[in-house]
Amino acid sequence: MQREQWNSRVGFILAAVGSAIGLGNIWRFPYMAYENGGGAFFIPYLFAMLSAGIPFMIMEFSLGHRLRGAAPKVFSKLGQNYGLRLEWLGWFQVFIAAIIAIYYVAIIGWAISFFSFSFTQSWGTDTNAFFFKEYLQLGEHSPTNLGLFQMHIAIPMAIAWSITSLAIFTGVKGGIERASKIMMPLLFIMVLALIGRIIFLPGALEGLNYLFEPDFSKIFDAKVWSAAYGQIFFSLSVGFAIMLAYSSYLPDKSDINNNAFMTVLINCGFSILSGILIFGVLGYMAMEQGKALTDVVSSGVGLAFVTIPAAINLLPAPYILGPLFFLALVVAGLSSHISIIEAVTSAVMDKLHLSRKRAASLVCGIGFIVSMAFATSGGLLLLDLVDYFINNVALLASCFVELLILAWLFKIADIRDYANRISEFTVGHWFDLCLRFISPTMLAIILVKNLVNTISEGYGGYPMRDQLILGWGLIACMLVLSLFINLFSKNNDEV
Ligand code: ALA
Repeated sequence: MQREQWNSRVGFILAAVGSAIGLGNIWRFPYMAYENGGGAFFIPYLFAMLSAGIPFMIMEFSLGHRLRGAAPKVFSKLGQNYGLRLEWLGWFQVFIAAIIAIYYVAIIGWAISFFSFSFTQSWGTDTNAFFFKEYLQLGEHSPTNLGLFQMHIAIPMAIAWSITSLAIFTGVKGGIERASKIMMPLLFIMVLALIGRIIFLPGALEGLNYLFEPDFSKIFDAKVWSAAYGQIFFSLSVGFAIMLAYSSYLPDKSDINNNAFMTVLINCGFSILSGILIFGVLGYMAMEQGKALTDVVSSGVGLAFVTIPAAINLLPAPYILGPLFFLALVVAGLSSHISIIEAVTSAVMDKLHLSRKRAASLVCGIGFIVSMAFATSGGLLLLDLVDYFINNVALLASCFVELLILAWLFKIADIRDYANRISEFTVGHWFDLCLRFISPTMLAIILVKNLVNTISEGYGGYPMRDQLILGWGLIACMLVLSLFINLFSKNNDEV
């Protein structure tokens, strides 16, 4: 079967940028920067972007382009050159993508609901009680005691699934590329329009001062570096099968280096724009309420679904700016969700030789059913726990192992030569240095630290049994299943 291809270079870049720019940029990045030293966070962040983000992206684009497959096929083909069986790593990454996809869609579902509430600000004045009690119906629940199924959360999730499925069903050119060509310009226009209005509000510039004011004492803190690296991998969609699948649809003549630089720089630039938007809004809110900014800022889901609605209540023309903000969040989330599902679908197509429509029905069907676990009162707690383990343990471990294999077992210089041969500008030896020494060292330190912390202290005060089942147990299952598929696969992928 002839592999599908992107229609144009712009189409590919918009799809890759669409994958990278997601929920992680809009709410995770601004808060992370603020928490980890404000302006000083940009030093570890830029370092992580240069030493890991860009080289990793070039590496994944080269592998997908050269080996023409989703993650399991890429690693299987690579391993064959050296008599090793590495397909399991590809499946492990596909499982990471699959798990992220099923909880990511819940947040998109919440954002769709809040988009509809924002026209009349029907969340009222107590946005905290509204989100947790009235909307999520969160009570005495836990990640394993999810409470009742919530139809009003399931419906917007089903809407998100329908849009994702439509794009995946229609294929690379007609679906994903077309959706990205609509969604990405729309997202940039919406965010720039929001910034254009917010920045002139009283207090907005003080908000930005808070975000950008450097606290240099923080850059000696390992936690800050860990946050920067974690954010780079998640935000750039590398290490969990996505960019391998997307680059496998590139035409033979493709400028890998340039595409990788553009994808990374546009993504990181967008994160900074999101920071300006969120902190502009928070600065205005603090000024309006006569509070310090530190009293109005909040983290994680609370920022997007509690603080921002409260800020929207205070904005001029909230019925325009509110919907604009939540629509931007939905669009950013959907374009990433499409890419996450495509990573899984394309692996299933490669493995089972299914048509796109069949593979997409299987992946979206199972994904939809499993994701309904998050449409429950305790769904938020389940999401929080699974997200922590997937991002801080599984994803970092997967990136680390990928690097070890590629940079130490294989010759990373071969990948550089390959990328340079087909690109307009070339990358030098710094590429090898970053992938062989700097990134693996940083990843090893961060991973060990995360493992030690999680084993000794657990996460979030959740019952240990829940952490064992839904954290460690889930990761162990993913690994065993990956090895199992590897064991029973015929190693017949031609190189
Ligand atoms: N890269 C996507 C995000 O940042 C997954 O949300």
